[in-house]
Amino acid sequence: MNAASPALDSQLSAPRSPVIAIDGPSASGKGTVAERVARVLGFHFLDSGALYRLTALAAMKSGVALDDEAGVARLAAALPAGFHDGAIWLANEDVTDAIRAEAVGAGASKVAALPAVRAALLDRQHAYRQAPGLVADGRDMGTVVFPDAQVKVFLTASAEARAERRYKQLIEKGNSASLPDLVADMQARDARDTTRAVAPLKPAPDALLLDTTRMDVESAVQAVLAHFRSRS
Ligand code: DC
Repeated sequence: MNAASPALDSQLSAPRSPVIAIDGPSASGKGTVAERVARVLGFHFLDSGALYRLTALAAMKSGVALDDEAGVARLAAALPAGFHDGAIWLANEDVTDAIRAEAVGAGASKVAALPAVRAALLDRQHAYRQAPGLVADGRDMGTVVFPDAQVKVFLTASAEARAERRYKQLIEKGNSASLPDLVADMQARDARDTTRAVAPLKPAPDALLLDTTRMDVESAVQAVLAHFRSRS
């Protein structure tokens, strides 16, 4: 995320900056695609999932129960999140790796289902919309957070393909992993994200559907860029 501090954002200039909203399920590759598209265009980048992960980590560290909606929302509203120096920070602690732990991902999925937590993170996400533009990656970028985004993409892949990608990442990092467990895990997380009452994962009606099951990252990046250029 290379946006300037949300505190510096001018609400007046916000509506003029274009937004490319990229939503989709876990491990669909949307984070990688979104970051590369942002780099090519020189746009800011918002990894909204990281905000939910940071909120879950902050709750875990401070002993706030993940189902204590008011308590977690208070933490989310005052989250000392930082995205700089190539790292992700919680106050002055580098938590780039810590927020990727499975336990934190599961916690993020729980706190993301709480309406007060989503509301507490909304202004912070809007604040990343700054010139020359923003690529925002998440689950509800095109439906809730930036419904007026110029370009919306729903990037997906089969649960099997996504589990296989996650499996390769884990093995490359020297972790052990079971492919059938990962497929089951992916399906459970999809079910939770798509059936929750608030901001469920679903394509915006005007989103470009991009199934990357048989597509590499570069082809997906080019498809998003072509769509953006056709709309500019
Ligand atoms: O993309 P990710 O795996 O880092 O997201 C972590 C969790 O946060 C995931 O369970 C879905 C949730 N999330 C969300 O509800 N809304 C977003 N805009 C981004 C993530």
